[in-house]
Amino acid sequence: MTDQSRMRCQALADKVMSAEAAAAFIKPGDNVGMSGFTGAGYPKAVPGALVDRVKAATARGERFSMGVWTGASTAPELDGALAKVDGIDLRMPYQSDPVTRAKINAGQMDYLDVHLSHVAQMVWEGFFGHLDVAVVEVAGITEDGSLIPSSSVGNNKTWLDQADRVILEVNSWQPAELEGMHDIYYGTALPPHRKPLQIVEPSDRIGIPYLQCPPEKIVAIVPTHAPDRNSAFKPMDSDSQLIADNVLEFLTHEVKAGRLPAQLLPLQSGVGNVANAVLNGLEAGPFRDLTAYTEVIQDGMLQLLRSGTLSMVSATAFSLSDEGLVDLRANIADYRDRIILRPQEISNHPEVIRRLGCLAMNGMIEADIYGNVNSTHVMGSSIQNGIGGSGDFARNAWVSMFLTPSTAKNGAISCIVPMASHVDHTEHDVHVIVTEQGIADLRGLPPRRRAQQIIDNCAHPDYRPALQDYLDRSTASNAGKHTPHMLDEALSWHARFLKTGTMAPA
Ligand code: COA
Repeated sequence: MTDQSRMRCQALADKVMSAEAAAAFIKPGDNVGMSGFTGAGYPKAVPGALVDRVKAATARGERFSMGVWTGASTAPELDGALAKVDGIDLRMPYQSDPVTRAKINAGQMDYLDVHLSHVAQMVWEGFFGHLDVAVVEVAGITEDGSLIPSSSVGNNKTWLDQADRVILEVNSWQPAELEGMHDIYYGTALPPHRKPLQIVEPSDRIGIPYLQCPPEKIVAIVPTHAPDRNSAFKPMDSDSQLIADNVLEFLTHEVKAGRLPAQLLPLQSGVGNVANAVLNGLEAGPFRDLTAYTEVIQDGMLQLLRSGTLSMVSATAFSLSDEGLVDLRANIADYRDRIILRPQEISNHPEVIRRLGCLAMNGMIEADIYGNVNSTHVMGSSIQNGIGGSGDFARNAWVSMFLTPSTAKNGAISCIVPMASHVDHTEHDVHVIVTEQGIADLRGLPPRRRAQQIIDNCAHPDYRPALQDYLDRSTASNAGKHTPHMLDEALSWHARFLKTGTMAPA
């Protein structure tokens, strides 16, 4: 039954229908722009109905697959379920689903891993083809047909602008208090018509609280009442605690050195367990009245808002565990004036990130001794998740930090390597590397001194001798070259794990 308090627009009442009827508007080969960003605000009903259509087509011996575009990762009911039935032939711009990952790495699904701030403009330019359908979750529709955005904004504005047909899911489970929290900017344009974005504080609003969509494009409205689904964060372990302590020590040092104000600069915290642990760690620090200009609001950010460590947060989505969701829903009246949710081309906009001087803290898979960072590929070939917004922030931040435990897989793999097996962030975009072992502040250092810092301060003691040996021999055999490498050995570093099942020195 339709919740009248959420579906307030009488003019659209005849568009209300079941998810099954709505899914019939999507055809094999369509490009479908879905809402959703790290498990927040994704459509809850139409993807399931689409899975049934794909299964029925498969049973008839027909192929039914689509291009699926989103804000970022979604949930098993969308990414996982459609991937499992081979309903996706191209996925972009970010995923973190195990089934989707396996299909991509088996060569059964194409994947475009795109800077999140670039997606909208690339869609406008038509690089991914034409957008046929948008399936967007909203928290409600007002009397005049304005759309109350849900718990994520992501690329929804672009999907609604670009798609031929629009399916809306009105989710009455989403808190009514979301209305008014969003800031949707309608002034974006392609060059040479771009204007400066007037955000000089993270709390600045430059748009309107609603998404707009011409009513004639809306082909279906599906009422739902279903929760967001996000994965739980791993409990804080000793490595995460040490990484958080090291970040805190670094920030405190920067304030003492006069390079950061006492209230720091706007924080950006990436996805994943380590980044969330660092936010929890900030709680113990001396800082108060901080701000965040970031991509996602994790559990740790809510805790910082509650305690007053953070005064406000600007982002594009929530990315909360089940406990975080309970907290948000219970205390949303208190949080709502201190949170702004924006389209991802604005939350991750290089112009704004550079102007505000964000302090970027992102996770990584590995860094090499010269400071090149791999955020996306395991052993150079297998995609893990994607670059997400890490590149938007890293290149433009005031300080760009990358965080990781010094080893992965119970110590069997060193996350500091001679040469990164894949590079997402070059040595030029990486200012500080932090592991549980310590901090390497690479600013102002030439390559060989960077390498020494990273080995001494960040590598695990089990791997330091092998890395030092590599640096020494590379330096000797290259007679003073700028960034010395021995390519055969650098490349065999990863291959050694495949042969022996461990990278640990014999
Ligand atoms: N080699 C092989 N596997 C590695 C590895 C390495 N060097 N480093 C990490 N991994 C594996 C871990 O073992 C873990 O695997 P599991 O899920 O099977 O246990 C997985 O990668 C995640 O690692 P974890 O240590 O739990 O870190 P995390 O949750 O903080 O995630 C990234 C780290 C890099 C995967 C994550 O930060 C990411 O996807 N980053 C790219 C996008 C991004 O930065 N977005 C932020 C924009 S605002």
